[in-house]
Amino acid sequence: MTPARPNSSFAPGSVALVGAGPGDADLLTLRAIQRLQAAEVVLYDDLAGEDFMSFVAPEAELVAVGKRAGHPSPRQDEVSRLLVAYARSGKRVVRLKAGDPAVFARSDEELRAVRDAGIAVEIVPGITTATAAAAALGASLTKRGVARRVQLVTGHDVDGRLPDDLDIAALADPAATTCIYMGKATFPALVERLLAHGLAPSTPAAIVESLGSPETRVIQGTIVDIAAQLASDRPQGACMILYGMALAPR
Ligand SMILES: C[S@@+](CC[C@H](N)C(=O)[O-])C[C@H]1O[C@@H](n2cnc3c(N)ncnc32)[C@H](O)[C@@H]1O
Repeated sequence: MTPARPNSSFAPGSVALVGAGPGDADLLTLRAIQRLQAAEVVLYDDLAGEDFMSFVAPEAELVAVGKRAGHPSPRQDEVSRLLVAYARSGKRVVRLKAGDPAVFARSDEELRAVRDAGIAVEIVPGITTATAAAAALGASLTKRGVARRVQLVTGHDVDGRLPDDLDIAALADPAATTCIYMGKATFPALVERLLAHGLAPSTPAAIVESLGSPETRVIQGTIVDIAAQLASDRPQGACMILYGMALAPR
């Protein structure tokens, strides 16, 4: 395998925010593998699958910083503090994040903390869940003349509720494909607002659950079907919810 970049760019005492993609180890980028191989410390999320650890040197330190069932996750400022502390001790530090580090991953806070400490940091992009979900559906998120815009949206606010300041007109745009992260609890409430704003109840929609794992499950229907499914029997795994006319079967 040809290295994507020389390892020398990952200097001792620096941090790499690495996107792990949706969970399948073979959807890691070459650069992500290279950073994992060179890492002396890896701070990782739950959603970044355990398979990735096979790329990490046996002597490297592994630090779980995700939300494990029944265990409180470290606060975001504690994660930032750890990144700075490990890098200051001269280690090559990988912060492994599910999907892409630039999408709903609180990377801005970690970047600020590390840069404020004068530590070099790079971002290694990963495949975000929205595009991995499109692949699982065998669908394109864009469609000429039908869906000219793709929007990535969070379905929950800091308190777990549907954000008050969502742009409902944009979310009800029939010419867009909408990909909702962290939205399984609030999607039924969102659909009520979309319907009130005029989005057709027949708009195609899908849930893709637990991508990159043997439990991957796809549920397809209309926005109304998907909202009813989530209201009555909410899946346990992480869910990407997508809707828009680009998802119509033909
Ligand atoms: C904190 S966000 C992280 C997003 C991530 N940075 C990305 O680019 O995909 C977590 C949300 O991403 C989605 N997600 C992450 N991993 C997933 C997976 N394996 N299967 C389905 N959805 C997933 C879910 O909507 C989940 O609530």
